Amino acid sequence: MFVIVARSEQEMAERAADLVEAEMQRHVSPVLGLATGSTPIPLYEELIRRHREQGLDFSTCITFNLDEYVGSAPDHAESYRRFMNEQLFDHININPKNSHVPDGTIADLEAIERFCEEYEKRIADIGGIDLQVLGIGANGHIGFNEPGSSLGSLTRIKTLTAKTREDNARFFSSLDEVPRYAITMGIGTILNARKVVLLATGKGKCAAVAAALEGPVSSACPASALQLHRYATFVLDEDAASQLTLEGYHRT
Ligand code: GLP
Repeated sequence: MFVIVARSEQEMAERAADLVEAEMQRHVSPVLGLATGSTPIPLYEELIRRHREQGLDFSTCITFNLDEYVGSAPDHAESYRRFMNEQLFDHININPKNSHVPDGTIADLEAIERFCEEYEKRIADIGGIDLQVLGIGANGHIGFNEPGSSLGSLTRIKTLTAKTREDNARFFSSLDEVPRYAITMGIGTILNARKVVLLATGKGKCAAVAAALEGPVSSACPASALQLHRYATFVLDEDAASQLTLEGYHRT
C-alpha cells in the first residue's frame, strides 16, 4: 500500500491530481472512477486548473461514478449527478455522454437491479476502470458500501446506516430528507479497478483510516478490503493519518 501524508490540502490535491494525470497520459481513452463528498473537491479544482492552464485534455476520458442516492433526480440539489456536473464536468472538456453516474430516478426494485447489472457490464465492456478515486466514510465505508458489505460485492442497492445518514444530513435541510437507499458500485467493483486512490482529511476519519490500513481485512471496515489491492494509494492529511501506528514510517 502506498501512503502519502500531505502537509496541506493543496499538496493533497496536487499529489492526487498527479496520479490522475499520469493515468490520463497512459491511455488513449482513460477510464476514471470518481467519487463525491467534500474530500475530493480540491482534487477536482486542481484538475480544472490543469485543464484551463495546462490543457489537460478530458475529451477522450470516460468516467463512472461510485454511487447515487435512490430517489434523486439529476437536477435535485443533493444528487450526485448534479454534484459532479457542478464540481467537475461543467468545467472540463469531457463529452457528457462519457460521464456515467448511477441513475437515482428508478423506483422499481427489479429495474434498479437490471440497471446495476447494466452498469457493471458497461464498465467491463469499456475494459474496466483504470483509476478509481475514493473518499472514506467515518465508519470506513467506500462508495456506499457500509460495514458488513460483501468484499466481493458488485453494483447494487444498499441501505444507508444511521451514521452515514447523520454524517450526510449536513447537505440536506433535515435528517428526514436524507435518502435511505443508494445505488453503489460494490467493493468487488472497486477492487477490479487497476489503481485506486483514496483521499481522507480530518480527525473524523482517523479511526477509519487506521482500521483500513492497519486493521484486519474485514467487512466491518469496508475500506480495509483495499489491503488486497496491488495499487492502492492513500493520500491523507496529518489529522486523518494521526491514528496510524506507522505514521512516521509513511513520512520517511
Ligand atoms: C458519502 C459518499 C462517499 C464519500 C463519503 C465521505 O457517503 N458516498 O463516497 O467518501 O460520503 O464524504 P466526505 O468526503 O464529505 O467526508
